[in-house]
Amino acid sequence: MVGLVFNWLDDRLGIRDLDAALVSRNVPKLNWWYTLGFAALFTFIIMSVSGMFLAVYYAPTPDHAWMSIKFITQQVTFGKWVRGLHHYGASMMVIIVVMHMLQVFFYGAYKYPRELTWISGVALLGVVMGLGFTGYLLPWDQKAYWATVVGTQVPEVLPIVGPISKVALRGGESLGALTLTRFYAIHMLMLPALMLVFLGLHMYLIVRIGITPLPEKLDEAYDRVKAGN
Ligand code: HEM
Repeated sequence: MVGLVFNWLDDRLGIRDLDAALVSRNVPKLNWWYTLGFAALFTFIIMSVSGMFLAVYYAPTPDHAWMSIKFITQQVTFGKWVRGLHHYGASMMVIIVVMHMLQVFFYGAYKYPRELTWISGVALLGVVMGLGFTGYLLPWDQKAYWATVVGTQVPEVLPIVGPISKVALRGGESLGALTLTRFYAIHMLMLPALMLVFLGLHMYLIVRIGITPLPEKLDEAYDRVKAGN
């Protein structure tokens, strides 16, 4: 019965072809450092799912933001747990993504033909940082408020675009209701959409080009170059 259903679905969806292209394919000898990319992907999934549940109760207005977070933490079933996952997951994600970046750098995985994988990775790092920055304001407590006052003041020193970027980020000269809704929209709509675009490109390139083999020991490489092969 299960086989019948599977074959029916496979005829229409091509599950076996997908499996051959994505899962059951040959990869070079790897080590544990190579798991960091998938750890980053897993953290992104955790952040997306926990964020969706937080959005059910969170109210992005200066009058209600802090109270709604208090309500999530103290009243909602599993609320404290889901918020904790999203809160600590944010720091974890930055740490994992930076470790993944260092791994691919030290293994030389950014070189030809993976330059675009690296460039899409740099964009992903920017998106992750942006998510951290915009998410920080959402609890609307003293720490969040003043961190954002400082954070939105930083681009002001840029030549020409400085003053405009501060006003664009804040939605005015000072922090207020417009800043909060703006940061919320950027945090839960714009940056996740960008994330999906760059992640799609990143994953497509990984499947298309494959993973960089473990770097050879330098002396072995040197011997090979000397021997001319
Ligand atoms: C949200 C952030 C990111 C996610 C979810 C992600 C995910 C992945 C995954 C699943 C892989 C394949 C497995 C592996 O080799 O680890 C990978 C490979 C790669 N990533 Fe990322 N990545 C992210 C950020 C970055 C960043 C910041 C960079 C560099 C600036 C980067 C550059 C690369 C490169 C060059 C490869 C190819 C590695 C190889 O060929 O061995 N990625 N990424």
